[in-house]
Amino acid sequence: MALLLAIESSCDETAVAIVRGNKGSATEVLASEVSSQIELHREHGGVVPELASRNHSLRLPALVSKAIADAGVRMEEIDAFAATSGPGLASSLLIGSTAAKGMACAAGRPFLGINHLEGHLLSPFLGRTEVPPHLALIVSGGHTLLIDVEAAGCYRKLGSTRDDAAGEAFDKVGKMIGLPYPGGPEIEKVARGGDPAAYSFPRSMLHDPHLDFSFSGLKTAVLYTLQRECDHLRVPDLAASFQQAVVDTLVGKTMRALGSSGRRVLGLSGGVSMNSALRSAFETACRGSGVELAVAPPALCTDNAAMIAFAALLRHLDGSTTPLSEDIHPNLPLV
Ligand code: KG4
Ligand code: ZN
Repeated sequence: MALLLAIESSCDETAVAIVRGNKGSATEVLASEVSSQIELHREHGGVVPELASRNHSLRLPALVSKAIADAGVRMEEIDAFAATSGPGLASSLLIGSTAAKGMACAAGRPFLGINHLEGHLLSPFLGRTEVPPHLALIVSGGHTLLIDVEAAGCYRKLGSTRDDAAGEAFDKVGKMIGLPYPGGPEIEKVARGGDPAAYSFPRSMLHDPHLDFSFSGLKTAVLYTLQRECDHLRVPDLAASFQQAVVDTLVGKTMRALGSSGRRVLGLSGGVSMNSALRSAFETACRGSGVELAVAPPALCTDNAAMIAFAALLRHLDGSTTPLSEDIHPNLPLV
């Protein structure tokens, strides 16, 4: 059994987790602390990098102590330390990565730098004994990615967004209609009282043969509708129609990718996978196609350190380490 402590600080959540696991056994999350900075950034309508990094460094020490206490372990028992090394905000990544390297160095244990997107991708399988071959859809604030997964660490990109990420589209549309940051969960709430067929919005590139996505045309269509409807605007209808257009596009392309890849398992991850309209559309589509849908529990969908710890644990068990001289990579691709 190996014990691993990981830090996530790529954007506006400061998170520390401790996991325990071994090859062939399900990984246990002994502690998972997430300190969200959303309230701090909300008044600015989005993430302010300087505020984010300052708060990561202020909050990390207490979060590490709390994780150690909650897990009921001693620092000397931790076998390896990990941190998100990218993609993300440089000044934020630097805080988590430097802290994890410092702890690894002091304890004389290995350090692992982890790709944030790999953390998301693996999160639906955290409680399982293995990561099966599958198709992965990562839908977060910064990324929309379709990945063919042969095994953990063995990835092939099938498609990605050509402009805005799905979560970014939610956030920008939320801002347009005056909802607080981040727009995704707010749009979901407002959309509950609306008619998803009220406004006709584009499902961009849905029928194109490639597997890339585009959400900027949808965002512009929402803007034109806002300008045209003015006083007649029905916000719940607009939110529901926008959400439905995103859901149809994501589900349509993903089910097509599943058909052509032949994979029988779909792993859905990232902050947007919290969206219940998206989850239920995927549940229906997967049931109809005999595909198993694997979605992480809500606490593992938005940014957290347990997913980073899990990705790091799999690498640690394979004997992999990252040199302490390795820098952070704000634009790190997954593949
Ligand atoms: O994965 P995540 O926490 O951070 C990134 O790696 O980007 O994803 C954050 C994104 C935000 O854009 C947020 O609006 C979106 O996930 N999100 C949602 C919901 N909850 C979070 N989007 C739609 N519906 C939700 N319920
Ligand atoms: Zn994320």
